[in-house]
Amino acid sequence: MDDLVAELRQKKEHLRQGGGPDRLAKQKEQGKLTARERIDTLLDPGTFEEFGLFAQHRQVHFGMAGKEVPADGVVTGAGSIDGRLVHLASQDFTVLGGSAGEIHSHKVADVMEMALRTGTPFIFINDSGGARVQEGIDSLSGYGRVFYTNVELSGAVPQISLICGPCAGGAAYSPALTDFIIQTKRSQMFITGPQVIRQVTGEQITAEALGGAEAHMGLSGVNHFVAENDEEALYLCRRLLSFLPANNLEDPPRVPFDNNVDPNPELGKIVPVEPKQGYDIRDVIGGIVDQGDFLEVQQGYARNIVVGFARILGRSVGIIANQPSVLSGVLDVNASTKASRFIRFCNAFNISLVTFVDVPGFLPGVAQEHGGIIRHGAKMLFAYSAATVPKIQVILRKSYGGAHLAMCSKDLGADRVFAWPTAEVAVMGAEGAVEIVFRKEMEAAQDKAAKRAELIDQYRSTFSTPYVAAGRRLVDDIIEPADTRRHLAQALEYLQAKREVRPPKKHGLIPL
Ligand code: HXC
Repeated sequence: MDDLVAELRQKKEHLRQGGGPDRLAKQKEQGKLTARERIDTLLDPGTFEEFGLFAQHRQVHFGMAGKEVPADGVVTGAGSIDGRLVHLASQDFTVLGGSAGEIHSHKVADVMEMALRTGTPFIFINDSGGARVQEGIDSLSGYGRVFYTNVELSGAVPQISLICGPCAGGAAYSPALTDFIIQTKRSQMFITGPQVIRQVTGEQITAEALGGAEAHMGLSGVNHFVAENDEEALYLCRRLLSFLPANNLEDPPRVPFDNNVDPNPELGKIVPVEPKQGYDIRDVIGGIVDQGDFLEVQQGYARNIVVGFARILGRSVGIIANQPSVLSGVLDVNASTKASRFIRFCNAFNISLVTFVDVPGFLPGVAQEHGGIIRHGAKMLFAYSAATVPKIQVILRKSYGGAHLAMCSKDLGADRVFAWPTAEVAVMGAEGAVEIVFRKEMEAAQDKAAKRAELIDQYRSTFSTPYVAAGRRLVDDIIEPADTRRHLAQALEYLQAKREVRPPKKHGLIPL
């Protein structure tokens, strides 16, 4: 037995070396952690249990016959993060470039299914040249099973992808099917690389400009977090998970909290009373949530809307907020898709929604209309209306027209609507309204400017206040800005047992 155990240990030790010392050293030279180091950094120490270390391919073509491919290029297993179980797969670039052969993909899909069976999050650390070319359609078919399983898991357990190296070709669709993508600045994602693009369209672009982390944050909206390096990506993954439940049947963990709901007089000073003056909505969020701790999602994409996770008295909340310092916080195509996706994630995983409103409307323009603002803006209406988690709207200042409705209004099922005294709930801004309603009066007036100012004032004092909306029950209470945290904490407490039953159906049809 001793000999057999010694042999077993030696075999395991050998396989854990992946592509061998030289390739491991090259990986480190590139500033990347190895597949196993990533797992060790991510999980609580000593909790990793590996599955399929001895898994082997069965290919015979293109030099594969008898070729040793340790763990078939992917380390899979289970372990804990902050004491909570997760399942994960980590591609090993030192083994055939982390390419996904048939067995590689089956290992990934197997561990995903285990995540589903145990109701635990799935984390996929990507570092791969894509489908293993030598294995032809076997590798293609393997990836197909991964995609299918991604969809099975969707909405049942959280799925997080880390992109820590190449993620090329169709392989990029697995991360795209997961809930969050954390991409390091040392990685690239694309369906077709610069070479193919040059051949097909003649466009010249570097791999970094095409599929680097900044491109996918600022331009495509494909990723959700940008990390300097692997260590930061793994930290972000742990942090993100801390806000989430293990599955859709659980509530998010409530972390220890103090009962502090003291007024914050700074809040009222951050937001200018003049509706056209900008400010950073993140200062308002920071002044309300526990320890000012806000994990912003897609920070660099559609910056006119801010979404992310925070806590109020230890409870996870998903925050959606217009950003008046960018495009006046207007809703456009990209902001609508960004927010709608986030709302749907929160709803799937029982995370209450808190919406801060300061919105002048939907963005006018030919590009927006032809870009499908009707279709994309409708996603906001759909996502909020379909969400059955507790929904709280806080109107800070402007809340005009369709955008008022689209930001989780009472009519879209908000359970509580609070308004600050600066709130203006109106069909449109007073300036625009007088142009439509009083054009003739203004033209007839001797002093047109004075008449216009008078009418704007009149319209604003009649309609652009929270009192009319409160009078119509569209606002539950008008609150002092300093007390916003207390009101939110209480509403979240009272709404925790909220149950809302919808008619049975296969699924709704969000306008895609
Ligand atoms: C098999 C692969 C591979 C792949 C890389 N390797 N990608 N082997 N299948 N898809 C191997 C290389 O041959 C090499 O082996 C080792 O991994 C390291 O690769 P290098 O090229 O030396 O590394 P680097 O210079 O860092 O470049 C990394 C890379 C490049 C940018 C990822 O390897 C590359 O462009 N690979 C092909 C990417 C691609 O076109 N994938 C699409 C596959 S088809 P040796 O032994 O020489 O060290 C596809 C269809 C969709 O994805 C499938 C459905 C999902």
